[in-house]
Amino acid sequence: MKEKIILTGDRPTGRLHIGHYVGSLRRRVELQNSGEFKDIFVMIADAQALTDNAENPEKVRQNIVEVALDYLAAGLDPEKTNIMIQSQIPELTELTFYYMNLVTVARVQRNPTVKAEIQMRNFEASIPVGFFTYPISQASDITAFKATTVPVGEDQEPMIEQTREIVRKFNSVYGETLVEPEIMLPDDASCMRLPGTDGQQKMSKSLGNCIYLASGENEIKKAVMSMFTDPGHLKVEDPGKVEGNTVFQYLDAFSNEDHFAEYCPDYKNLEEMKEHYRKGGLGDVKVKKFLNNVLQETLRPIREKRHEFEKDIPYVYEVLKKGTEVSREVAARTLHEVKDAMKINYFDNEDLIKETLEKYNA
Ligand code: TRP
Repeated sequence: MKEKIILTGDRPTGRLHIGHYVGSLRRRVELQNSGEFKDIFVMIADAQALTDNAENPEKVRQNIVEVALDYLAAGLDPEKTNIMIQSQIPELTELTFYYMNLVTVARVQRNPTVKAEIQMRNFEASIPVGFFTYPISQASDITAFKATTVPVGEDQEPMIEQTREIVRKFNSVYGETLVEPEIMLPDDASCMRLPGTDGQQKMSKSLGNCIYLASGENEIKKAVMSMFTDPGHLKVEDPGKVEGNTVFQYLDAFSNEDHFAEYCPDYKNLEEMKEHYRKGGLGDVKVKKFLNNVLQETLRPIREKRHEFEKDIPYVYEVLKKGTEVSREVAARTLHEVKDAMKINYFDNEDLIKETLEKYNA
């Protein structure tokens, strides 16, 4: 059986929030501890972050450590997971250059995530070439490590599909070399996309609707108590809507029966609580207080661990350096195989040299 290898990553453009946590980080830690994977690589994709932050390298640089701290605090263990910095692995750039020839401009233009990002950034008239090609660079990230499994959110689906196409194309042109990866989506729909605290589609720093992994107790409480609920649920007795109600969406993602036993024994589980809310007679404040307890319990140990790591930044850099070194060796091996398959390893392929010799000395 083919051994399973994980590759995934994040752009370091800000601290990670609890949307990242339920959408990917929590899962990564579970996968890491499952023992099912031969290797796990987690990439801090600073080079990709620069594709739309060219004028702001400082932001990207600062956030590399922030993201690393979030990883370690959430439970990624450098003994089991290679945490690496993308830009320090130049082999990835070289792979990208060769892959670019296997993808058409029209194909990249069809990528729905790229389209949405272009709109969001008002790039319509001035798309940086580097940004436009980042899905191809992401294919390098994935294939360099021969990843079989890419745990990401659904917005990354077009990137994985693009990667698979590149792999198929490469293998058919140059011979079986690369591994076709599979996407691994969150197994729980509630974790697919946690809305912002204001009920907006996405949590985003610029909208100010995030709760961060590093958020303090008061910050979390404030965010929860002012969270968007059902605007039609005015009086406690009114029937309320659970669908599209942010507080319940968060409870879907975070709460379990133990939380009910501990903080809200009136209900056995979330279903019972929702039932009551729908019928009327359950006030938002009670639900919010419960959510606050759940989030505090979940985030406290992460925040405390983060504070410990914050006191030892040299250790964090050491983790990144080691993880990057190990990863770079793997990427270099793949690049070598790629160039062998393409027959462009001119100086260390005896056969190529012999071929030329024979041509002229025949
Ligand atoms: N595009 C991902 C994001 O925006 C980050 C990323 C870069 C990534 N390279 C990757 C994710 C490779 C998975 C695999 O969050």
